[in-house]
Amino acid sequence: MCKSQFGLIGLAVMGANLARNMADKGVKTLVYNRTAAKTKKFLEDFGHSPNLDGAFTLKDFVNQLERPRKIILLIKAGQPVDDMLDELIPLLDAGDIIIDGGNSFFKDTQRRSKRMKELGFEYVGMGVSGGEEGALHGPSLMPGCGRQAYDHIRPVLEAISAKAEGEPCVDYIGTDGAGHYVKMVHNGIEYADMQLISEVYTIMRHVLKMDVEEIAEVFGKWNQGRLSSYLIEITAAILQKKDGKTGKPIVDIILDKAGQKGTGKWTSLSALELGVPTPTMTEAVFARDMSSMKEERVELDKKYNDIRFASDTLDKDSLLADLEKTLYASKICAYAQGFNLIGTAGEVYGWHLNLGHLAKIWRNGCIIRAAFLNVVSDSFDSNPSMKNLLFSDFFASALKEARPGWGRIVSLAAEAGVGIPALSSALAYFDAYHTPVGNANIIQAQRDYFGAHTYERVDKEGHFHTDWTG
Ligand code: 6PG
Repeated sequence: MCKSQFGLIGLAVMGANLARNMADKGVKTLVYNRTAAKTKKFLEDFGHSPNLDGAFTLKDFVNQLERPRKIILLIKAGQPVDDMLDELIPLLDAGDIIIDGGNSFFKDTQRRSKRMKELGFEYVGMGVSGGEEGALHGPSLMPGCGRQAYDHIRPVLEAISAKAEGEPCVDYIGTDGAGHYVKMVHNGIEYADMQLISEVYTIMRHVLKMDVEEIAEVFGKWNQGRLSSYLIEITAAILQKKDGKTGKPIVDIILDKAGQKGTGKWTSLSALELGVPTPTMTEAVFARDMSSMKEERVELDKKYNDIRFASDTLDKDSLLADLEKTLYASKICAYAQGFNLIGTAGEVYGWHLNLGHLAKIWRNGCIIRAAFLNVVSDSFDSNPSMKNLLFSDFFASALKEARPGWGRIVSLAAEAGVGIPALSSALAYFDAYHTPVGNANIIQAQRDYFGAHTYERVDKEGHFHTDWTG
């Protein structure tokens, strides 16, 4: 019997779609799911493809794969991955390659890579972005592993990935947890991007008093320009959608409590651990936390709702122009924070990451795909040691041009009593980052005052202490 080239475990929607994508690209794929009924259903629906086959025991599955075996797991992150590895390990042969395509925590991936390597297997922690549609038609892929393992799986990954300007949206990222780390920060940026868009919507809806259809038009228009991105595009589409039952815009029916699975929080935890400021990404996580406190928000509104400010003398057209600049500038800051974090993690974990290439593989297939990633990629390519995107001349001119309107929008929202934590944190990040003389002299003095922690001086080397009360 002709053996399959690739094995795939986990037939929830991501796994099923990825298996179909592989088969469409001519890769003979064998699927397995713990619940046999799922495999049966999948084969009933899609088994007519000559490239799709299924196995009903793990032993049969492993035996029907070409060697070295290449097995991709699309199962729930966490303990299920360890459980599956425990079951697979006795059935594998040296040199077999296991790829974890879930949103696993990068430190788990580092631990699993070490374990698998010691047992003679190759382990790939691969970030997969693009949701269900991406899995089916072409995701962005972020594999972290040894070079040799990558060379084995590269042709298939390139075939199934999305393409941007003809180039596959996959590249070698780095060893062990690098791929999952990069995917984690991708999600941190995704959280920020989504929150920024939501705040801009809030300003249009509740400060400029625009109706939902009009806001949809603005997002649609922005999507034709430099803000062109998947998230802006789907926001315009979402705002046009009416609820079948009530005829109201569906966004008015959806409860304002955001879910989260943890990758945004992990990004912020890593940023705190590595000492990299990522306020916009982190505010986006806090905003989801705040959103879930619905009952308290409703209760507090009763206490404070008389302090809202509304004006009908606002110049809508000029404020919309300011808003576009504010969103663009804030987006630059959010991505700058994300790339800064990835760059630092690359140094700390010894991953030798190429930030220009990373930006390239996010140009299509993934959730944060955006026209401006071309410029991000070019900026890092022309200056690979650039510490932060804010040093790029291209983005510097966009930020300078945006700054006056950005300030106006943040003040306007503050006056109106509308919380916009992501937009305002991006502005604060920008202002703090280009401030040559900040306020940490006061912090240092306070630390020295109450704890004799000492401080450095601007005029000579060394550490000094003042007798503050003497
Ligand atoms: C992607 C998405 C994907 C998923 C997130 C949602 O890149 O395809 O990021 O990974 O949709 O896990 O995350 P939250 O549930 O935390 O919003």
